[in-house]
Amino acid sequence: MSRTLAILKPDCVRRNLVGEVTARIQKANFKIIGLKMVRLTKETAGEFYAVHKERPFYNDLVKFMTSGACVPMVLEKENAFEEFRKFIGATDPKEAVPGTIRRDFAESKQENIVHGSDSPENAEREIGFFFSEQELVELR
Ligand code: RTP
Ligand code: MG
Repeated sequence: MSRTLAILKPDCVRRNLVGEVTARIQKANFKIIGLKMVRLTKETAGEFYAVHKERPFYNDLVKFMTSGACVPMVLEKENAFEEFRKFIGATDPKEAVPGTIRRDFAESKQENIVHGSDSPENAEREIGFFFSEQELVELR
């Protein structure tokens, strides 16, 4: 078993898709072991996406991620990060495979519903960004 971090982004919350997307995550057998709702600030969103600081889309990304509430969750599954990246689809919904979350729900490359960690190392770092170990529920 391994863990990954998902974030339901402000577009997902604003469009009342939290329930529907969460149901799909659970149906795909990702176990939710931590979940909360947060409002990121310019500082926390900037820190979370610090790897993209030099990218042209960085300022818009920070604006978007601070535009409303986010729902971070910790998911457990075998090969969690890879499986979840497959499940959500490509960054740009136009390029995402049919049946993926982004293809089915996202409206643009920026407003793409959900974040997924892109390596086991980043998953652990990102989980620690939002959750203490005490907040993660052991289900076994
Ligand atoms: P994420 O980190 O959120 O899971 O997304 P990702 O790996 O698929 O894509 P990444 O390259 O890490 O980009 C992070 C987020 O920045 C926004 N973005 N906008 N307008 C654009 O060209 C553009 N490119 C990226 C998206 O919200 C993307 O998920
Ligand atoms: Mg990324």
